[in-house]
Amino acid sequence: MKISVLNDAGGDEARVSATPDSVKGYVASGHAVSVVKNAGADANFSDADYKAVGAKIVASNTAAAKTADLVMSITGQDAKLVTGMKKGAGITGLMNPTDNPKYAQACAKAGVTAYALEYIPRISRAQSMDVLSSQSNLSGYRAVVEGAGIYGRAMPMMMTAAGTVAPAKCFIMGVGVAGLQAIATARRLGAVTTATDVRPATKEQVASLGAKFIAVENEEFKAAETAGGYAKQMSAEYQALQAELTATHIAKQDIVITTALIPGRKAPILVTKKMLDTMRPGSVLVDLAVERGGNVEGAKAGEIVTTKNGVRIVGLLNWPSRMASDASNMFARNLKNFLPLVTAEDGSYAPDWDDEIIQGCTLTKDGEVVHERLKG
Ligand code: NAI
Repeated sequence: MKISVLNDAGGDEARVSATPDSVKGYVASGHAVSVVKNAGADANFSDADYKAVGAKIVASNTAAAKTADLVMSITGQDAKLVTGMKKGAGITGLMNPTDNPKYAQACAKAGVTAYALEYIPRISRAQSMDVLSSQSNLSGYRAVVEGAGIYGRAMPMMMTAAGTVAPAKCFIMGVGVAGLQAIATARRLGAVTTATDVRPATKEQVASLGAKFIAVENEEFKAAETAGGYAKQMSAEYQALQAELTATHIAKQDIVITTALIPGRKAPILVTKKMLDTMRPGSVLVDLAVERGGNVEGAKAGEIVTTKNGVRIVGLLNWPSRMASDASNMFARNLKNFLPLVTAEDGSYAPDWDDEIIQGCTLTKDGEVVHERLKG
């Protein structure tokens, strides 16, 4: 099949969806690969690296998309670009489908199959294709490292001739993939680490990483996980109890990383302005949920806000892109593992429509929007 790798760079995006390593594999399997000029430059992969493994370098995304059976992209979402694709061809990407339904409509109109990678079902067979996990893991790591950089004090305890430095206190709110890596990173850096979540399964996970679990563990908490492993929207009563607990704990924290999300909803506010006022000057909050409205009151997307009492709220966006080389490597491996699901035995492009992973992530097919979540 003909695979084209788009140049997604621009704005805060520095990742690329295929690396010289993954392209080498595609070429070895008999696929023809085109890579758009400078596609990997911001992730430290040069055009020469792609050329050396057998890729053709093409001038533009439009030119690359025109002839491809499968277009690889980090985000997709260029409605104009898909109009120039072959009918029946496919495009991959993190498409943010519910917030951006127009893109799926454009793909349907163009007769293009859109594979929204965030909808790959979280079953064991799909773990190696799980872009959400591979990228969230890096976000969790980077949030702690960035938070530690902005925090004006040390993370570990240091006993020196000039005196003792107390270890930083780090609190992780939301213990999904990003939160777990944030806990592990904070612990490695020597911080005294605590964490909270509304899903009971996280209690043991937090303990196994050597951190202390803090949560309102009432009856509602015991039933707070959906069958899919996600958090439920908690009641107003639970949220009030949670806020009370957070208020007493957060006043003593130096670095807070928030990652709490509920699928399809606005992120819950976990840290209020009143709580921020009780924190020490110099404390740092990194709000990874800011793209979905934020967990911290006053967090601003794309900005670092300093409150009146000198607390900084970091609302930067696209954390995986801040580690573009590693993020691209992982993303590319996820896609490489996905490719067999759209490949026939003779190597041609032929999606396996009966496969539950393909069914789970296909937004459009044969000119129609087919995904349940977009149908109404
Ligand atoms: P997410 O990004 O949807 O949410 C992050 C965390 O925030 C979750 O742990 C959630 O429980 C928590 N949260 C939501 N509301 C909260 C509140 N009010 N207070 C505190 N915490 C709150 O989660 P992510 O990282 O996508 O993981 C979701 C689930 O998927 C987990 O159960 C995870 O273990 C599972 N998973 C399964 C995989 C597989 O089997 N292939 C791969 C990756 C994750």
